[in-house]
Amino acid sequence: MITGIIMAGGRGERFWPKSRMKMPKQFLNLFGEKTMIQQTVDRLTKIMPLENIFVVTNIDFVELVSQQIPNLPRENILIEPMSKNTAACIGIAALRTEKIDRDSIMVVVPSDHVIKDEEKYIEALETAIQEAEKGDNLVIIGIKPTRPETGYGYINFDENTKKVVNKNCVYKVERFVEKPDYSTAIKYIRSGNYLWNSGMFIWKTSSILSAMKKYMPDLYNSLERIREHIDSNDMEKVLYEEYSQLESISIDYGIMEKAKNVYVVLGDFGWDDVGSWLAIERIYQKDEYDNVIKGNVFKVDTRNCIIMGENRLVAVVGVENLIVVDTEDVVFVCAKDKVQNMKDILSQLKEEG
Ligand code: GDD
Ligand code: MG
Repeated sequence: MITGIIMAGGRGERFWPKSRMKMPKQFLNLFGEKTMIQQTVDRLTKIMPLENIFVVTNIDFVELVSQQIPNLPRENILIEPMSKNTAACIGIAALRTEKIDRDSIMVVVPSDHVIKDEEKYIEALETAIQEAEKGDNLVIIGIKPTRPETGYGYINFDENTKKVVNKNCVYKVERFVEKPDYSTAIKYIRSGNYLWNSGMFIWKTSSILSAMKKYMPDLYNSLERIREHIDSNDMEKVLYEEYSQLESISIDYGIMEKAKNVYVVLGDFGWDDVGSWLAIERIYQKDEYDNVIKGNVFKVDTRNCIIMGENRLVAVVGVENLIVVDTEDVVFVCAKDKVQNMKDILSQLKEEG
């Protein structure tokens, strides 16, 4: 039995003003007709029925999920009372899939990534599923790195353990390092023995639960208490109580950096986690002046800009290296080299009201 777990509780602010606290990027259609979470569901339904797909999200986004995926059974939306990052999210998903079958395979994926070659993506997932079925393995999908990105996890693989399964390379993982600093990331890239973590995890429900028992005993104890009340009338209350005292920590820091039985399948399917406005340039074709232009835009003598219009006309003249985003209530103009500080910009904005 194969289940899909879509993590959709993140509040990514880096696409402000298009993304908002109440409308994070997984619910936007920045890259195509459908929203990113809809595209995620479409991809997974190539290998499992919709009934096997669970979306874990925050209470604030439940309505968005059911509007955007209307055929998803309501009970397949797993609701978190507050954000405690991905370890807790995966933990409660495991309690649900455990009820179906302790040995069911969980295919855990983010809800906000762009994948260009779906066929190769499915092939990589199928290989990962086979590896996970073999034992107590935790399997991740790795991506060949192209820049010293500090927002990703890095996977040090052992070249000597290479095997080829269904055309995909599989390696044993030596070490997993979440979000290294810039100089460490450069070192990793130069060494050639590191891959990026794509944030997709494949394992048996029983394997991840025993890893949680070993490496995150506090989370595991909370899960045991939640398990006792699952589907009972006081489930909501217990979930709230347990979540209130949980540490907010990602699966990457909580488990992946510590676990020993980790394998990586090398994915080569055109992957991007679209972490900032600059990702637009990697995904869309630039014009002859290196601009990416969307929507209703008039431009003269403009170079190397990203301009996203909405309903109104956006007119730009004689500018370079800018990001301009127009929405109904906000106009955002930012120098390209300042957009990495989006988090700081937004917290300053909140302080100043
Ligand atoms: N349900 C739920 N609850 N989902 C969450 C929560 C939460 O509290 N926090 C984050 N998510 C969802 C996000 O919506 C996203 O789809 C996914 O989980 C990953 O969270 P991010 O916050 O985007 O993680 P990241 O990008 O910083 O890092 C992860 O992804 C990288 C690749 O994109 C790590 O796994 C890195 O190692 C990896 O390289
Ligand atoms: Mg992310």
